[in-house]
Amino acid sequence: MSSILVTGGAGYVGSHATAALIEAGYDVVVFDDLSKGHREAVPQGAELIVGSVLDPAAVRGALAARPFEAVMHFAALSLVGESVANPWRYFRENVGGAIELLEATVEAGVKKFVLSSTANLFGEPERVPIDESEPLIPGSPYGESKYMIERMLRWADEIHGVRSACLRYFNAAGACPSGTRGEDHTPETHLIPLVLQVALGQREQISIFGDDYDTPDGTCVRDYIHVCDLADAHVLALPALEQESLSLNLGNGTGYSVREVIETARQVTGHPIPAVMAERRAGDPPTLVASSGAIRERLGWEPRYPTLEAIIETAWKWHKGHPDGYEPQP
Ligand code: UFG
Repeated sequence: MSSILVTGGAGYVGSHATAALIEAGYDVVVFDDLSKGHREAVPQGAELIVGSVLDPAAVRGALAARPFEAVMHFAALSLVGESVANPWRYFRENVGGAIELLEATVEAGVKKFVLSSTANLFGEPERVPIDESEPLIPGSPYGESKYMIERMLRWADEIHGVRSACLRYFNAAGACPSGTRGEDHTPETHLIPLVLQVALGQREQISIFGDDYDTPDGTCVRDYIHVCDLADAHVLALPALEQESLSLNLGNGTGYSVREVIETARQVTGHPIPAVMAERRAGDPPTLVASSGAIRERLGWEPRYPTLEAIIETAWKWHKGHPDGYEPQP
């Protein structure tokens, strides 16, 4: 059985990818410092090693646990606004962590690497939907940190033959349809979980950050992609890496405005979800929608939950069953 090392496998996207890998028959070792992730999120059947990608000895220890076929790297800071407020922390932790991990990956002789990259690489794109020919002009220090890692991976391939798949996620959302795994960030800043917190009675209202954008209803448009569909792409990337390195946009190809998300959540939950207007949030581009053509063609990827209803329904099931998120096992 092939083994995969998953950094950040206790986090939101990493834990869903770990579950998908296990279901596909892989043996998985999760390496996570639990600073953002949750021990309870690590799927059954995966081994958890607690440690930070910033700690070279811990990274080497994890890579020595098995002969790994591939490393999947999710462990990172990922908030656009926070990265504008504290760019050095993002460069130090995201880029520094990737340097430690890549150097140790090369030393361990692992030849496949999958990077959790981002649509923030495109800043304010010239053309929508965004395909892989769009110029890379990161919209924030967060996006820039991922861009730097993508550039390092180019040299890991060139010099050491490490093949990489850089998967540039659009807006990850939704939860495992079983209701056992989902989104649990502290503090929560993402639109869908915040809207559902209103439906749960944990918040009075949702603030809409700006309605004067150049979009059909004036609110920002995003490409929400189900976290299990994101996870599937990681599994499909592994055999594709036998051929060559890849950089692919990972979204559904359909955009929804902030108002449309709130309206769909009202229908799914049956709650009125009061909304109020607020100032624009710094760094938010008006529209981010992927072209999913290349990933469908190269990986044979097909989303299982492409509709906003399905995404919000699965998120709602998770939030209703876990109103306080993951709670430590007694
Ligand atoms: N929004 C609101 N009110 C809120 C929260 C969000 O109106 O209370 C709006 C935002 O302004 C934005 C949209 O909802 O227009 C989506 O915001 P999120 O915070 O849910 O997600 P982002 O688009 O800011 O960012 C996410 C990830 C990033 C990734 C990006 C790629 O957090 O890591 O998607 O598209 F880079």
